Amino acid sequence: MRAPVAVLGIFVADLAFRAPRLPVMGETILGQGFKDGPGGKGSNQAIAAARAGGDARMITRIGRDTFGEMAQKAWAADGIDTSAVVIDETLPTGAAFIFVSTETGNNAIIVESGAAANLSPADVAAAEQTIVTSKVLMTQFEQPVPTAIAGLKLARQHGVTTILNPAPAVTVPDEIYGLCDYVTPNETEAATLTGLKVETEADALLAAKDFVRRGARNALITLGEKGALLHGAVGTFMVPAFKIPKVVDTTGAGDAFNGGFAVALAEGMSPEAAVRFGCATAGLSVQKPGTAPSMPSRAEIEALLASQP
Ligand code: RIB
Repeated sequence: MRAPVAVLGIFVADLAFRAPRLPVMGETILGQGFKDGPGGKGSNQAIAAARAGGDARMITRIGRDTFGEMAQKAWAADGIDTSAVVIDETLPTGAAFIFVSTETGNNAIIVESGAAANLSPADVAAAEQTIVTSKVLMTQFEQPVPTAIAGLKLARQHGVTTILNPAPAVTVPDEIYGLCDYVTPNETEAATLTGLKVETEADALLAAKDFVRRGARNALITLGEKGALLHGAVGTFMVPAFKIPKVVDTTGAGDAFNGGFAVALAEGMSPEAAVRFGCATAGLSVQKPGTAPSMPSRAEIEALLASQP
């Protein structure tokens, strides 16, 4: 049986432009590639979790439009449960502008959540069965913060493991960290949320301690090509990133990490093995362009884990 993972978050259509640099205000530059496809951190994480072997369940709102159809098609292709997806008859599905550097594969994003900006605590209450029958609930901050809090609270009340991927980093009450078994920022988000500089492993440990002081059970900070650092109730350790032949596009790498990590936890792997599983999922995703389309299969993840023990 596949391990059930509920994801509370958004779907948007990603519109990704490859260019050597971002234009400055008032300037037009020629692009070097364009791709549209399914995106949104929540949906990417659900797709990553499904491909990694989980029974992924999506809790969100989309519009009745072309981008909404793109969402339904993507979820159907990966066998994602959509019983907690609400179709909004008036608002459009959101979209994201993504700049991908042709030099480094790094990205910059503007996301408009569309119908999912109305995802509410009432929607969370309506999704109770989906949440309480899952092993893990994972959420982010692309939908309103009170909705994330409602999801984390409901999961906590029912003993469901909670993961908060605090992206994008927004100002939140510290109360939220007390609802998190794992808070999983990247280095930029960790710096914004703690006010500390997060560049080195030592910086990450200080930031992780700050999240724990604010109430998180564990803080798991992703550090790109350095790997990921965990500190909290389950211990303190650093898992190095996998060696990757060529980075093509880092967009969605955090979502890949979180999706893989969530499934591994839901399957009962140790936290250290789950972080390693997440790192392998992310390491594979950066080798392909796009976000959801770049999520690897379970077989690919296992092959990478076996090749770099
Ligand atoms: O994490 C990457 C995602 O962030 C993209 O798919 C984009 O839609 C934004 O939500």
